Amino acid sequence: MKKCIDALHTKFRHNPLADSVSYIKGDANDHIQKICSSEQWRTQRGVVLLDPFGSQVNWRTIEAIAATKALDLWYLFPAGLSVFRQISGAGTVDPTHESSITRLLGTEGWKTAFLKPSKQGDLFGETENLEKFVTLASAALFMIERLGGVFEGGVMDEMIPLGKHAYPSYYLLFAWGNASPKATDLARRLSKAAVAASDRKYGRIV
Ligand SMILES: C[S@@+](CC[C@H](N)C(=O)[O-])C[C@H]1O[C@@H](n2cnc3c(N)ncnc32)[C@H](O)[C@@H]1O
Repeated sequence: MKKCIDALHTKFRHNPLADSVSYIKGDANDHIQKICSSEQWRTQRGVVLLDPFGSQVNWRTIEAIAATKALDLWYLFPAGLSVFRQISGAGTVDPTHESSITRLLGTEGWKTAFLKPSKQGDLFGETENLEKFVTLASAALFMIERLGGVFEGGVMDEMIPLGKHAYPSYYLLFAWGNASPKATDLARRLSKAAVAASDRKYGRIV
């Protein structure tokens, strides 16, 4: 971790705001939750970018950010690695992955949304199994709905696919905590600009 912090220091040392930056070591879930609950948000605003490799972001962290009603969130949601690829084609989920999907989404509701009963018949009669019923985009839509339930400002109703064109492992999602008309108007304009700047062919923001 020291190597990463040193690299950040070096990268930004000539930035005019370098002296006002704090680098915090530790588990981001713990630190973000602590900062969200201990700061006075009535007079402050901010933006959080969550850029995980996989299922590292706990839903509780998202709730803490939303509860400030002052922070905007950009979340690079790992729909591929952390949801879609954890559910087999036959609708089975390893118990470890099951709990990590629940921690990521903050509900067990994904089980009924992503796994549907299917009847299969053979010589011996009919058996009922579960069938995988989720796509990369529907996993991201599920998270958009979850964000909409906690962010009082709103959630961008479009998602920006990032990653390989045919297989966007991540979707960039945006939610804002401040429900005032002014903040909502600004957030809508910002999200439109981000969508317009996204290069759908190469899966990146340009
Ligand atoms: C996709 S990378 C972020 C890349 C970075 N945004 C950049 O542009 O260079 C995810 C990073 O999060 C770190 N990470 C994963 N879980 C974490 C946690 N719970 N707390 C803090 N950092 C974590 C990983 O070690 C990794 O460096």
